[in-house]
Amino acid sequence: MRRNSGTASLAVMLAGVLIAGAACSSAGSGGGDSGDDRVEVFSWWTGEGEEEGLNALIDDFKVTNPGIEFINATVSGGAGVNAKTVLATRLEGEDPPDSYQAHAGLELTSDIKAGRLQALDELYDSQGWRSVFPQGLLDAMTYEGKIYSVPVNIHRANLIWYNPKTLASVGIAEPPKTWSELLAQATILRSGGITPIAVGPLWTQKQLLETVLIGELGAGQYTGLWNGTTDWASPQVIYALTTAARVFAVSDITNASGDWQNAMDKTLAGTAAYNVMGDWAYTYNLGKNLKYPTDFAVTASPGSSGVYDFLSDAFTLPKGAPHPGAAQQWLIECGSTRGQDIFNPLKGSIPARTDADRSKYTDYLAEALEEWGRDTTIIVGSLAHGAAASTEFNEKIDTALTAFVADADAQAFAKAVAKAYQETR
Ligand code: GAL
Repeated sequence: MRRNSGTASLAVMLAGVLIAGAACSSAGSGGGDSGDDRVEVFSWWTGEGEEEGLNALIDDFKVTNPGIEFINATVSGGAGVNAKTVLATRLEGEDPPDSYQAHAGLELTSDIKAGRLQALDELYDSQGWRSVFPQGLLDAMTYEGKIYSVPVNIHRANLIWYNPKTLASVGIAEPPKTWSELLAQATILRSGGITPIAVGPLWTQKQLLETVLIGELGAGQYTGLWNGTTDWASPQVIYALTTAARVFAVSDITNASGDWQNAMDKTLAGTAAYNVMGDWAYTYNLGKNLKYPTDFAVTASPGSSGVYDFLSDAFTLPKGAPHPGAAQQWLIECGSTRGQDIFNPLKGSIPARTDADRSKYTDYLAEALEEWGRDTTIIVGSLAHGAAASTEFNEKIDTALTAFVADADAQAFAKAVAKAYQETR
């Protein structure tokens, strides 16, 4: 078994993320009243590039649990933008699914504090999971000493995708290593009638912003933005935000439409040169019958080589879940080596477990596994995908970002986010 050597830095990065806050009630036993003959699993993995991994995992679950009917409750919309609203209404109305998707990190803290989730410590002990996931990841899912979700994967957010033929058509030899290089290339691309960078809805704009912040500030200062140790009013942060505004200005942000797949399609077709997107795009692109790395290629977003901007998809057991026994079976499937090795090669992610079968991960995914496990890799948490900031903080950032995209006022954005941090910490 090859231990994830990124574990130490992940632990440092996430240390204290789920620190003591409002008291959370102790785990209750689920509200099951109708037997465990079915399980309703809630996620946003539906449609091209999202559902293939989930469907394969469900198929395997059906084989290992023939007596349990699987109800695949999905709400479309990248990053769960729509699913999260529907889920909040259901949880508020005490109508929880048996299990729901969430990100490891600060995203779940409000549900935990509100007493909506069951602790899964006994399951972790019985499955021997404490020794097979990186310690930093376990820490990210732990609140006041209890663990509340089961990770199924690790995704990387700081990636820039491109079609090498598009670059060659305007004489660009390689993708940019810094954001100022990207801005210089933008002039060439525009004179060739190519949109320098494609972007989609607000969450993809936030992911683009986070990668500019990592590239301009470095991993340490980036992480400090979300834990109060980096000063939003500092000249470096204002400069980084000004760069982000310039990147937005050479993107198609003013007429962005559709979801992340639509922005990626423009890059694949060559009407746009670049797209910053997580590695779920890898299998989406392969699904278009394109070859890696000749028809499409990827590298770390400018200025972020050696940094792994991570997120992890995880599943939960809500209190009052109608079928807690069946939900537990689902969680066992998600946390198993077999389940992870079925799911991740199709999802475009690497396993959260450190003992997975590496031979199943080829090309980009083999590179990602290598990078994740490298001693020198610096791990940071994704803002747009729940690792770095709480849901409340993220919602306020969204409001500020909408204004920033429209007015490019770096000072005003910095001020609004610093205030939001204080209000939600
Ligand atoms: C992320 C999620 C990924 C992928 C992506 C696009 O939040 O963690 O698994 O689904 O959104 O929807």
